[in-house]
Amino acid sequence: MKLKALNGFKDILPEDVWLWRRIETEARDVFGRFQFREIRMPILEKTELFARSIGEATDIVEKEMYSFVDKGVTMRPEATASLIRAYIEHGLYIHRPVQKLFVIGPMFRHERPQKGRLRQFHQLNAEVLGAHHPRVDAEVMAMAAMLLENIGIEVRLEMNSLGCPECRPTFRAKLIAFLDERMDHLCDDCKRRYSTNPLRVLDCKKTGCREQVEDAPSILDNLCTECDEHFTGVRSNLEQLGVKYSLNKFMVRGLDYYCRTTFEFITNDLGSQSAVGGGGRYDGLVEQLGGPKKIPGIGFAFGIERLVLLLQLKKKEAQNQQELDIFVAGLGEEAAAACYPLVHELRKGGLRVAMDHEGRSLKSQMKQANKAGSGFVVIVGDEELKSGEAILRNMATQEQQTLQLNVDAVKKAINC
Ligand code: HAM
Repeated sequence: MKLKALNGFKDILPEDVWLWRRIETEARDVFGRFQFREIRMPILEKTELFARSIGEATDIVEKEMYSFVDKGVTMRPEATASLIRAYIEHGLYIHRPVQKLFVIGPMFRHERPQKGRLRQFHQLNAEVLGAHHPRVDAEVMAMAAMLLENIGIEVRLEMNSLGCPECRPTFRAKLIAFLDERMDHLCDDCKRRYSTNPLRVLDCKKTGCREQVEDAPSILDNLCTECDEHFTGVRSNLEQLGVKYSLNKFMVRGLDYYCRTTFEFITNDLGSQSAVGGGGRYDGLVEQLGGPKKIPGIGFAFGIERLVLLLQLKKKEAQNQQELDIFVAGLGEEAAAACYPLVHELRKGGLRVAMDHEGRSLKSQMKQANKAGSGFVVIVGDEELKSGEAILRNMATQEQQTLQLNVDAVKKAINC
């Protein structure tokens, strides 16, 4: 029997890895502009960490975690909880009242795999700890939007506020009263959510449930004064920074730690996996996990697989990367032997160079050069060998010139 990767676990092949690296490089660049520093945490954490932060009654904790039950540990389903654990454990609040941190890496959720939904997936995460001001919420969203723009992806930003422990219970009670009258028309999952986590009924994707909650009360009409002022501040700060957004009163997010601002970046191009990223404020989480009181937090995560899929839809972006600066085509054994040390010297000089060792025809070697997106081809046949020369072909312009067969002449001719 052939051995295959597990369902929902994917190899990332060389044809795609360069797109991943481009996204990661862009992320490091943009995060750096906002003074975010990288942090790396272990993949395995105590199960309790996720149950206490993400919430016992969430889909993630109830059914999607990869847990080693006998050992009490879990492969992280997301990065925020682990990051806060590390933040508290190392007292990162002591020397910097505001910490801006980012994480790039794999996460694990036992979901039903489909396009854009995997069991091992990867996130780009950014978190700010220790800042309350609405300007920070807007800045975090503006940073996420800048990253998308720099990568070349167009999606829309949707935003909501989930209020705080002061105002949410009142809204929850109103929502429960509203749902009471519609219970018979809700799906089985929503009937269950009604008692565990009624706000989640609002973002059920099933058409029947969507129709039922269309006229549900909006949390935005039920915010306390502080939450309302905060949200108004976020909106005007986003406008100041020129970040476009729309309000979505149905957005509740799938993790329990959120309060106030929540947001998602949405696309119509990936079928049902429409969120390429999401995040929000989690002002109570540090305290809830045993850290100092009143350290607020806000952050987001993008799914890298979904960003890559969107880039691949734009055919031009997904074209093969230029792998080589020069392909050296030695025609025949003697020419190949003469080219061999030249290739090594060019590589020592910092260039990306390849040659063929299997005696293939010029046509076939030109094909290899083309496939690798090589900028130039150096051609050496019997005649050139005799005269100590080579032909240099510029693959973009198709121009050819004759030059001396040595490193300096080649480097000079290609301007490096
Ligand atoms: P999340 O919405 O669960 O939030 O995940 C963020 C993003 O990760 C999603 O929008 C999606 O692009 C990607 N993602 C999630 N699950 C999968 C999957 N099974 N396959 C592929 N991609 C997936 C969080 O994880 C929060 N920790 C975000 C956050 C950071 N909030 C505050 N700070």
